[in-house]
Amino acid sequence: MCGIIGYLGERPAAPILLEGLRRLEYRGYDSAGLAVFAGDRLRVEKRAGKVAGLEDAIGNGFPSSNCGIAHTRWATHGPPNRANAHPHLSAAKDIALVHNGIIESAARQRPLLRDRGFHFRSETDTEVLVHLIDLAFRECALLEDAVAAALARIEGSYGIAVVSLRDPGKIVAARKGSPVLLGLGATGDLVVASDPAAVVAHTQRVLRLRDGDSAVLDSGGHRTFDLARRSVRRGFQTVAWDVDAIGKGGHDHFMYKEILEQPASLRDATRGRLLEEEGIARLGGMADVDLKGVRRIVITACGTSWHAGLIGARMIEEMARIPVAAEYASEFRYRNPVLDRGTLVLGISQSGETADTLAALREARRRGCRIMGIVNVVGSSIAAETDFGVYLHAGPEIGVASTKSFSSQVVALALFTLHLARQRNMSLPEGRTLVRAIAGLPALVEEALAVDAQVRALAERYRNAPNFLYLGRGYQFPVALEGALKLKEVSYIHAEGYPAAEMKHGPIALIDEEMPVVVLAPRDPVYEKTLSNIEEVRARGGRVIAVVNDRSSAVIDRVDDAIEVPSTLPALMPVLTAAPLQLLAYHVAVMRGCDVDQPRNLAKSVTVE
Ligand code: AGP
Repeated sequence: MCGIIGYLGERPAAPILLEGLRRLEYRGYDSAGLAVFAGDRLRVEKRAGKVAGLEDAIGNGFPSSNCGIAHTRWATHGPPNRANAHPHLSAAKDIALVHNGIIESAARQRPLLRDRGFHFRSETDTEVLVHLIDLAFRECALLEDAVAAALARIEGSYGIAVVSLRDPGKIVAARKGSPVLLGLGATGDLVVASDPAAVVAHTQRVLRLRDGDSAVLDSGGHRTFDLARRSVRRGFQTVAWDVDAIGKGGHDHFMYKEILEQPASLRDATRGRLLEEEGIARLGGMADVDLKGVRRIVITACGTSWHAGLIGARMIEEMARIPVAAEYASEFRYRNPVLDRGTLVLGISQSGETADTLAALREARRRGCRIMGIVNVVGSSIAAETDFGVYLHAGPEIGVASTKSFSSQVVALALFTLHLARQRNMSLPEGRTLVRAIAGLPALVEEALAVDAQVRALAERYRNAPNFLYLGRGYQFPVALEGALKLKEVSYIHAEGYPAAEMKHGPIALIDEEMPVVVLAPRDPVYEKTLSNIEEVRARGGRVIAVVNDRSSAVIDRVDDAIEVPSTLPALMPVLTAAPLQLLAYHVAVMRGCDVDQPRNLAKSVTVE
């Protein structure tokens, strides 16, 4: 995904746009650029690479104009060079456009525009749209009319902000599939941006455009329009967190801060939701939802959220006795799944904007299913489009690697499981036991994080290993997948997560003295089996790092290192066993000099399919 921002107010736009880009940089950091009005021209500056490079290029020498737009890019069409950086300009350089999304009709429209004399300076899909606006402007006087006419001619997703010398002092924004919101500052300043991170420094009151909406920002204030271009009023909401929540809180990296925040984020996930006496979960977003007709659940998600989904699937089947499948959203959508009205499709997403997950949910709805979301970002597309759901309340997660959102997702799934199970077969004592266990997690994860110094020492020892293997069974298998994903994405070390027992069917061939094998081995119903798998690794000379919850267990004598975390119910243990693996990935990455918060090639949320 990319980040867009626009500013119109009384202050110089460039510093505000650059500050906003820094806040949005986690959305993409391949290139950055901005455009502001400068008398009778648009002053544009763009650079490949991070926002810091753009700031250096601009220095203090930028016009003190009070209106402009800016962009930070995660490349989809064309490499991350200066030519492909946004803003994209019309031939006469009098229209500038920033865009988050994909113009799917671009390949078809490029030659048609070339035939009409348009010359392309970039390889991006976005440039098609700026030329279409240029073309439409020949027939109308207002920028919003030209933008609307151009958008009517394209297919794809967009969150855009546009400025033009032909209708100066105005920003036109529009969204379809990619988020756009407006912030109204105390002095009447207007900020338009892809997410609240770019706005909260000015105001916590935001207006979220709905799909198909557009907005005009000018000296008269702001006006919003729906798909049919009727004037509509969209209400302002208050963002629940402030600018401090998107700082590093004194740490070197967001990832580390967010790992350490887990006791607090889990408290927020459970606050007001657990009723111990009744042994139930009270979920505001599900209060009036009748789940009696649910005969089957399909969980769909990507990456870390899918790993949480695998844990949730197991929990729901075990405790609520409903069949559940957890599927990659990108696969689910294209395989003609058997779905009926008794199937509840549950999308899990931190950002609420992941294109594959959103598309899978839309497909499920098209086929008549009810759709539900477990989402962190309030007001995001998945939150808005699902029939009901559960928010994580984890606060903003800025580090590209998901950490606190994973544990909050597991907890949200546990709450949902409790909610479902108590309506079905779960007894009051069982309900109370689960409530107490969930309520105890914030304190236990705090204890689990106390292994930080030990994990840092392990990271020092293994930082140069070329490969890692992560093994787990049952509830711990998804944790093995998650541990491996964390390590690869932030440290660039190849790592594989595997069901411990499956190792002997292939990956065991990889094991030698060079191979660190991280085994999730808490005491749970498959503990004895996991011990056997550890023996298999040891017999081949592998170096075993075990995550355990019982130092007196036999495992301690059989491994090179044991990391001890506290104990809870097996279904909730992933929250505790994942924490040291997050720390391991973090410390290894720092020691290898990697860009922990913004790993190469990645973006916080992937809004393309
Ligand atoms: C994991 O660390 C990554 N950030 C990635 O796998 C992520 O979980 C995935 O892209 C899904 O994102 P979402 O939760 O915002 O939908």
